[in-house]
Amino acid sequence: MTRVFSGIQPSGDLHLGNHLGALVNWVAMQERAECVYCVVDLHAMTSPAEHDPATLRQRTLSAATTLLAVGVDPQRSILFVQSHVHEHAECTWLLNCIAGFGELRKMPQFKDKSAGKGESVSVGLFDYPVLQSADILLYHADEVPVGEDQRHHIELARDLGQRFNHRFAPDDPVFTLPRAIHPPAAARVMDLQEPSNKMSKSTSSDKGVVYLLDDPTRIAKKIRAAVTDSATDIRYDREAKPGVSNLLEILAAATGRSIDELVVEHDGHGYGSFKAAVAEAVVELLRPVQQRHAALAADPGEVSRTLADGAARAREVAAPTLLRAKQAMGMLDAGIVREGHGW
Ligand code: AMP
Ligand code: TRP
Repeated sequence: MTRVFSGIQPSGDLHLGNHLGALVNWVAMQERAECVYCVVDLHAMTSPAEHDPATLRQRTLSAATTLLAVGVDPQRSILFVQSHVHEHAECTWLLNCIAGFGELRKMPQFKDKSAGKGESVSVGLFDYPVLQSADILLYHADEVPVGEDQRHHIELARDLGQRFNHRFAPDDPVFTLPRAIHPPAAARVMDLQEPSNKMSKSTSSDKGVVYLLDDPTRIAKKIRAAVTDSATDIRYDREAKPGVSNLLEILAAATGRSIDELVVEHDGHGYGSFKAAVAEAVVELLRPVQQRHAALAADPGEVSRTLADGAARAREVAAPTLLRAKQAMGMLDAGIVREGHGW
């Protein structure tokens, strides 16, 4: 069966863009593949300015709880927190020794995030894609569902896996070479206040972002206040009518109906009733997610146990992969050392 790996950073509260762009698909993939899903807390601490320990702890638990609430099924899939499986950090070291400075320096995300930081940029940020490669390679993932912006990182994982196999395990490859898949998102969700920018965890204002845990009143308020334009016609045109088009796309994704059908229904009736319909659809879409989240959050011990179980199952896959990689690279077998030890 196809093995899928994906990760999400606990770097902010999850929003409607994450849900419709990624998580809906994570849930659907469980029908056709063995899925391993990871809350990548080690990645979330690569920007020192954004790394507050208490916040990271809270967001890691909250992201995991939200994944369970949207329908990641811990019976069928493996759901865990990256730092609970130390093999990720260890495998990163092995891969560091075959990754090139030049190839990491060229990574677009590193270039973006390090711009203007000069010499103070963290080594963690530089090494981010190698840790991501370790995540993927440890689980023999065939497919990695990610946004388009992660394409270079998945290519690096593939290159490092191939380089490793070629150099250290030519007859019995240790790593499976992954490929990025970009499943069609249910929607590309734009910021409600600035509809030419993606809805994102890291925007300055919350007004344009619908968080999965926003209450119905707040959701309705944000959608009512969404920026549209001064005309009143309702049609899909990302260039000329970005705000209206964004709302149409959200409504289509939330109701499963086509944009054409929605245009016919709403055009000519003004923005007020259209926005009310969008708000209602989003509230209804998120209601079961919020209910499940409330039930899970009321019993954090249970979520922790689920994550501990996920980590144990993840290690059953990751530990043998790491052991084979270490053996192939020439690390002395720990068993031999133990046998010869006097105490
Ligand atoms: P990020 O929040 O950037 O860490 O992204 C996590 C996942 O959510 C990735 O797969 C993104 O492609 C997806 N995603 C994030 N923001 C949006 C958005 N506004 N619309 C659609 N997908 C998104
Ligand atoms: N870098 C990814 C992002 O920002 C998150 C991530 C970390 C990931 N490890 C991964 C995604 C492994 C896929 C596979 O979206």
